[in-house]
Amino acid sequence: MLYGIGVSKGLEMESVRISGKNHVLFRGTSGKVSMLDAKCPHRGANLCNGRVKGDQVQCPYHGWEYDAKGKLVKVPSAYNIPIGGDIGSYPVIEDGGFIWTAKKNQPLPTRYCKELTDPNWVQVYGSRELKGNIYDWILNATDISHINYVHNFADENNGIVKNLKVETIDDYVDCFAVVQPKASSRFTEHMQPKNGAPVHSRFVSPATSIIRIKLASKYEFITFSTLAPIDDTHTKMSWCMMYPKTPLMNNPLVNKRFHDKMYETVAQDEAIIKEIEYVPLSVNAPCDRFQLEALKLLEK
Ligand code: FES
Ligand SMILES: [Fe+2]
Repeated sequence: MLYGIGVSKGLEMESVRISGKNHVLFRGTSGKVSMLDAKCPHRGANLCNGRVKGDQVQCPYHGWEYDAKGKLVKVPSAYNIPIGGDIGSYPVIEDGGFIWTAKKNQPLPTRYCKELTDPNWVQVYGSRELKGNIYDWILNATDISHINYVHNFADENNGIVKNLKVETIDDYVDCFAVVQPKASSRFTEHMQPKNGAPVHSRFVSPATSIIRIKLASKYEFITFSTLAPIDDTHTKMSWCMMYPKTPLMNNPLVNKRFHDKMYETVAQDEAIIKEIEYVPLSVNAPCDRFQLEALKLLEK
């Protein structure tokens, strides 16, 4: 399955758990990113605690080395390499600032967001392991009407979703709507539109969402977020928040503010999602069609 499993920025070696299985993700000295099983077949040590040597990874326990394909290539204590010591490797691609479990030339959700690589936009990346099943996080990513209640950048007293349009095309569902944002601090007051903000949300199967919101004058924000299942009760989210690179908006203080804001926003969702219990989605508001269409797309 195609998942975004982390961000490129700062990647050296990290542990990536996907559907209950541990992997080691690392960047070799050539710059190449590889993903292997994390369990060393010798005595079961976790390779994530080892180190990168060239484009290989070295086990922390007895120093055995595996290349980017998972082949056991060095056993420091012996002249010969024992048979059966190779480990599983998984194709990964780096694109748009994210690492994807994908093969070369496989179409990626990043193709729907050129701003990820546009030098005229600021890109602020982050990622986090969250409580909650990926199903509930996908529902949250396609949930327009929670924003006014869970997040302080939308107006709780004006939660009406206007001008709704939902359509499924190929591997994505688009949702257009007008919502009412609110300044979460003095800092964003001047950005607030009087008569609602147009939002274009796109859910790209299986687990990516791209949300574009236009505020007053030229203010515009995009969040690209992608999910991967860690296990039944945990989900990893990796994201990039983007805004046009104006002199006012492109300074380290502003960028730090948006970086922190995104972590805060995700934590607000997590507080709800970790407590969610299963319901059959039979009672809905009109704007919930976005969620239902996204689920239909996943069943295809
Ligand atoms: S457990 Fe990995 S080298 Fe021994
Ligand atoms: Fe949210």
